[in-house]
Amino acid sequence: MAAALIPRFDVDGAMRESLLPLCRLKAGEIWEDLFSGHRVGVIDATDASGMKALFGDLKAALVINDPPYNIAVGNRPTKALFSNGIETYIDFCKRWLRAVLSVMSSDSFLCIWTGADQTKGFQPLSDLMIMLRDFAELETRSFITMRNQRGYGTQKNWMFVRQELLCYSFGSPNFTVAYTEIPKILKGYYKSVAGKRMENMERSKSDTIRPGNVWVDIQQVFYRMEENVPGAYAQKPLEAIERIIRSSSSAGHCVADMFSHSGTTLLSAEMTKRRCVTCDIDPIFAELTIRRLEHFRKTGRTGWQQKSPFPEIDSL
Ligand SMILES: C[S@@+](CC[C@H](N)C(=O)[O-])C[C@H]1O[C@@H](n2cnc3c(N)ncnc32)[C@H](O)[C@@H]1O
Repeated sequence: MAAALIPRFDVDGAMRESLLPLCRLKAGEIWEDLFSGHRVGVIDATDASGMKALFGDLKAALVINDPPYNIAVGNRPTKALFSNGIETYIDFCKRWLRAVLSVMSSDSFLCIWTGADQTKGFQPLSDLMIMLRDFAELETRSFITMRNQRGYGTQKNWMFVRQELLCYSFGSPNFTVAYTEIPKILKGYYKSVAGKRMENMERSKSDTIRPGNVWVDIQQVFYRMEENVPGAYAQKPLEAIERIIRSSSSAGHCVADMFSHSGTTLLSAEMTKRRCVTCDIDPIFAELTIRRLEHFRKTGRTGWQQKSPFPEIDSL
């Protein structure tokens, strides 16, 4: 079945019935990778004792969390998080923040993906930012906007093309400057370099351009890309996660993600020689995370593009 036809694994009831028996982990269970020591669990991110079991003695130098936040595309559990207004959602975030802080090392970074719904008071971003001020141990570092290539709502409003990333530090972790081949959007001005007139566009080919806190150079994942994971509905681009990992941790460090989904953080950690500790509340996404790592090691491919990650099921 083509990727476009593979249903979302979180919402299709019949599909879930077929996939659950193929999942090697049940609620509360943890898988440990024999080669790089990565760990994957089926654990609720708000469960502090589950988090303790997942980490053991390990501490995370970097946490990249991407909790559900898009109510428009969310499943039933996501919608329930907003059922009593933003308060339920903020309470959910407080609970996972407390659990996460207990496993962060004394010098570490915490990055949180979120969104601002312009039809609903720019939630959850606005309340989330204010609530995070209650965590005095976290220092604000960056507020990054990543531009999507595809947008929506073009007829009666400005096209919506953004995803938000909030970055905090705990203690004094090291930050490594990232460089990119970011394309210049504005022609801007010219400058003389060694007597030759150089246009802004030519100079932008330098490899010393920093992405800054507005990322316009990262391709959103879509079904034709190799890294596409059919059945996952909220996959972040590997390039974005790799940029965060390289700038905010070092080789050998432990990188964590409590909302694993398609396993993007685990795969980026493997590719950048970090150790990843991750979990998802849904056994199907925990299984997908482990399979993505195994698939990469076996084939060198970062996803399944349009093929099924569960070839055992004929009907997929
Ligand atoms: C937005 S997706 C994460 C996408 C991920 N960054 C990626 O690139 O694939 C959110 C994930 O959080 C999981 N989730 C929802 N509530 C959770 C909870 N309380 N604890 C752990 N995982 C949860 C969902 O099952 C879903 O897979």
